[in-house]
Amino acid sequence: MRIPLIAGNWKMNNNIHESISLVNNLIQLSNDFNNNVEVLVCVPFTALYSIRKLLNSSNIKLGAQNMHYDEKGAYTGEISPLMLKEIGVEYVIVGHSERRQYFNETDESVNKKLKSSINFAIKPILCIGETLEQRERKIEKITVENQIINAFKDIKAEDAVKVVIAYEPIWAIGTGKTATSEEANEMSSFIRNVFKELYNEELAKQVIVLYGGSVKGENASELMNQTDIDGALVGGASLSAEEFIRIINFNQ
Ligand code: G3P
Repeated sequence: MRIPLIAGNWKMNNNIHESISLVNNLIQLSNDFNNNVEVLVCVPFTALYSIRKLLNSSNIKLGAQNMHYDEKGAYTGEISPLMLKEIGVEYVIVGHSERRQYFNETDESVNKKLKSSINFAIKPILCIGETLEQRERKIEKITVENQIINAFKDIKAEDAVKVVIAYEPIWAIGTGKTATSEEANEMSSFIRNVFKELYNEELAKQVIVLYGGSVKGENASELMNQTDIDGALVGGASLSAEEFIRIINFNQ
């Protein structure tokens, strides 16, 4: 049985006061949350420690938006998995398209980060997805398949199942243009088939697959009720407590 996951990716938004205020709002309203859904907020590094303390009184999980793959070393400006683990971070986004686009994240570094997050028992959320040009050329599936194959290189099945997959068509991120529920579910089903070929049928059934890309309160229910979609990775709409809660309560 896959437990739905609704994850907020705040990206580079919210100063520390806004972060604390938003999380306090979510905590105050969390008694109204759909209790069959796991809720996660992935916040900027500067807010992690403060938010960790606030979340200790709730069931809301805490995530980071990136990490380095090494435990420590001469990597100016980077954050290690050990640093995240020791302050109680439970999830980490790996390979977001914005990091691939702006910060030279590669399939190779994504693979290293997946292995490292698994080693440090921080649940990775692996972001994959095609560009508009790749979809228009009808190579979206081979693109996503290659991202998965490269990301999971030398990762055993018992570790692969710990990875949450977030299918985020790049053309839907921040654009207000959401993939149709059919498009999103078709790709989620395809992703499960890739895992079936790469590993086995049981793992393909167990792996959590999220959709990300302009998820809002009004489209969440149709998306989340698809057979192969287990939740959402939400950007802009997660910056509003009310909108984020509409997504969390997608089936109410
Ligand atoms: O990681 C989630 C993000 O890429 C989606 O952003 O603003 O389209 O929900 P948004």
